[in-house]
Amino acid sequence: MSGWWQRTDYPRSSTYDPEWLLSLDMGPNPLWLLEDLLVDLVIPPGARVLDLGSGLGATSVFLAREFGAEVWATDLWVSEAAATKVIADCGVEDLVHVVNADVRSLSYDNEQFDVMVSIDSWEYFGTDDRVLPSLLRVLRPGGRIGIATPCLREEFATYEECPAHVREVVGWEAAAWHSPDWWRAQWARTGLVDVTSCRAQERGWSDWLAWTQALDARDPGSQRAVLDMLEADGGANLSFAMVTAVKR
Ligand SMILES: C[S@@+](CC[C@H](N)C(=O)[O-])C[C@H]1O[C@@H](n2cnc3c(N)ncnc32)[C@H](O)[C@@H]1O
Repeated sequence: MSGWWQRTDYPRSSTYDPEWLLSLDMGPNPLWLLEDLLVDLVIPPGARVLDLGSGLGATSVFLAREFGAEVWATDLWVSEAAATKVIADCGVEDLVHVVNADVRSLSYDNEQFDVMVSIDSWEYFGTDDRVLPSLLRVLRPGGRIGIATPCLREEFATYEECPAHVREVVGWEAAAWHSPDWWRAQWARTGLVDVTSCRAQERGWSDWLAWTQALDARDPGSQRAVLDMLEADGGANLSFAMVTAVKR
């Protein structure tokens, strides 16, 4: 079962138990996404990191363990109790602070963070042009932000232009799966950051498929709709947008 998980392109993720990660599932392969994003985003040792939309906390555990980062795992839908249990079970409670909050109204101090990351959650709030500027309040000048968010490689103008296999499964929410170039332009238009990298993840579709197949193997049939979408796509449209920037 774990052969699919041992990947030379994800050496750090490979050291984690795939069953542990699958048990925390809230969306595709968060550790692979984060490890790939970190090719473009350096986490200095001991950095203060804001993990936006951290879910049950797997990426916060990774940032603490791999980089000794002090992490504020901030999420809206997951209770503090549930995420705190994950963090404590991993023995990183001295480095990871669990906060139940809406990223659109954070009460952190000005310039509190060196780095902000968002793995598979930016699509829920980042489309609002006001969100990046408001979040930059808590990032120090020269601090970095990086996101990995599901994308379609090209923008579509009407619902009917969205690939049918995507809209059948995702519906209108695919409207938030913007292309990497869309995110680059949204950020660049603020004048508040310099975009330092922007790409569709090369192996985004195939990683998503591998993750979904692993979930389906644990609970046969549970992922049928997503598997149908991914198989129909074949990597032509679906991937993850990986975008990083530095605060001016
Ligand atoms: C698909 S889940 C991904 C969770 C986690 N990053 C992972 O990869 O496992 C999206 C997360 O975004 C969070 N989220 C959505 N809107 C939010 C908001 N306005 N503020 C904070 N978190 C939000 C949800 O609570 C949810 O946990």
